[in-house]
Amino acid sequence: MYCCMLRSFHIKGNNLIQLTRASFSQNPQSLATASKLFSCSAYQCTHSPVSGSLWRPLTHRTHQPAVSSRCMSSIVRRRRLPSAFPVIDGEFHPAHRHVYEANLRNSLICQQKYLEHKEKVMKGGGENAIARHTQRNRKVLVRDRLRMLLDDEDYLELSPFAGLGLPYGDIPSAGCLTGIGKINGLWCMFVANDATVKGGTAYPITVKKQLRAQIVAMQNRLPSVYLVDSGGAFLPLQSEIFPDRNHGGRTFYNEAVMSAMKIPQVSVVCGSCTAGGAYVPTMSEEAVIVHRIGTIFLGGPPLVKAATGEEVSPEDLGGARLHSEVSGCVDHFAAMEDEAYEYTRNIISTLNYELPEEDNTQVEEPLYNMDDLMGLAPRCYNHSMDVRLIVSRLTDGSRFQEFKARYGTTLLTGFARIEGHQIGIVANNGELTYEASLKGSHFVQLCDQRDIPLLFLQNTAPEPAHTISQTKAESNTDRLKAQGSMMSAVACASVPKITVVIGGCHGGDSYAMCGRAFDPNFLFLWPNARVSMLAPGHSDALVQTEEEITQINEMLEEESSAFFSTGRLWDDGVILPQDTRKVLSKCLKIIKQQEYQLSREKKRTPLLRL
Ligand code: COA
Repeated sequence: MYCCMLRSFHIKGNNLIQLTRASFSQNPQSLATASKLFSCSAYQCTHSPVSGSLWRPLTHRTHQPAVSSRCMSSIVRRRRLPSAFPVIDGEFHPAHRHVYEANLRNSLICQQKYLEHKEKVMKGGGENAIARHTQRNRKVLVRDRLRMLLDDEDYLELSPFAGLGLPYGDIPSAGCLTGIGKINGLWCMFVANDATVKGGTAYPITVKKQLRAQIVAMQNRLPSVYLVDSGGAFLPLQSEIFPDRNHGGRTFYNEAVMSAMKIPQVSVVCGSCTAGGAYVPTMSEEAVIVHRIGTIFLGGPPLVKAATGEEVSPEDLGGARLHSEVSGCVDHFAAMEDEAYEYTRNIISTLNYELPEEDNTQVEEPLYNMDDLMGLAPRCYNHSMDVRLIVSRLTDGSRFQEFKARYGTTLLTGFARIEGHQIGIVANNGELTYEASLKGSHFVQLCDQRDIPLLFLQNTAPEPAHTISQTKAESNTDRLKAQGSMMSAVACASVPKITVVIGGCHGGDSYAMCGRAFDPNFLFLWPNARVSMLAPGHSDALVQTEEEITQINEMLEEESSAFFSTGRLWDDGVILPQDTRKVLSKCLKIIKQQEYQLSREKKRTPLLRL
């Protein structure tokens, strides 16, 4: 088999030489294709006998989609060459003023909607539920709990608007706050039920949000803290919560897998942990319970009464004393809530991390005003301005080292820093053509080779390219192949990826630009973003009658809004354009922390408590 493969490589090699000699003078593209084939063949020659596969990607590594545990930068600081990162021109042309102003008007409307959503979710389950929670049940509100747990309020909340505008109603923050904040200097994921929203019961969107938080924790190796205060499944929707792979049970499966991956998990039982909810603390590595507030049971007192006729108090059935003194389900007994968060902070302080000294190097701010991003956020595809104007308002000192500046110019690629973290930027600047896709594929592989995280600024075309002639059909086929290549490069790149949808997220182009299906570590939307197969107003070629066109357009108008998307948790949240740099910097710091966990590579089984 080995000889056979060598021969096939040889033959391919000869063919390539002939192809190159014969056709390069007529078609310069053929040289690029030929060199690609050489690389593939050489790779095949070296590796196929071991792997047994006929072809593996150029950047072959053991691909682990959910986890990236590789080092991303060297610890030794090198002198920075100012010439390596030239300042880019961020001034916009006066002739584009009207485009800027139209975008700004739209962004202000979107910002208003953002603020209204924010106000709504800050109220949780409403006044009555808050009174019941604090006065009758004597519990602390979820945001105050986070204040006690975290070092400061500078945390990254994920998908705060998830749950708004769903067919089964508005579920503020999906009844559960998730995000990443610092505990004792360490970035940790938190998953905190809000019991003012229907007793903290889990709706389908709550389950989805908890699972997303666990995926983020796994991808970025984040210690996780669960603040459990939940009545278990929301029974009327049980068929959408219980049976499937990515339903409630997956939370517990993930807990075990995370533990085996050496991702520490701690639970604080600060309310009810009923039915499925009872497994969250019992599968955590350490658990704290609050006296008179925390309870853990599979079936509560009403079920005991129905089954045996016996009357029992929640405290006797599954309270703090029982679980810390008799069952051993929890490890720490806290008399009050604040003590429970103190215990948790102490637990986190024992985790085996060696964090670097605080880096006091002065970071260069962008030279251009970040508020301008409101006028650069395109209200529709036709209102997109040069994406360099956006990049110049995000990167340190507005500096950017462009890659392949003269080729495939509808995609901008290059290197920059955000608050000192080096990144590779891939940004739409027009349609994702054949050349742009090849360039994107090349650049993504380059970053993967060099272990540089990728930032995708996505603004894809509103509809697929039309095939109106034979020549167009050929060019569309080439584009398809090149986009397929870029998708492979993006899917298999094992560096961290962050996507920000700054305009459109439509059709196949959005996959190559690392849309949700391509598993970026984080994906955010600007409030002006549109997420749909086609943008509104672009369905005429697909439907027949005026009535159908109107109907589809109305549907696309509603369903493509950033708020529709984020309500369904297709992203990690809507962020304001002017906050983007701050959010990106936080994400990059969070992603980097995994480098400081000691002995993370050792294989372990999950921690089995009892
Ligand atoms: N499914 C659907 N709705 C539920 C629910 C559940 N599992 N648990 C609570 N609710 C609803 C209540 O009906 C109430 O609705 P309302 O505000 O429209 O009146 C709301 O959630 C708050 O419940 P309430 O009991 O008033 O609040 P509380 O904070 O004092 O107690 C619980 C919360 C969760 C401790 C308590 O409701 C409880 O024990 N629920 C049953 C839990 C259970 O057996 N779950 C099994 C699920 S498989």
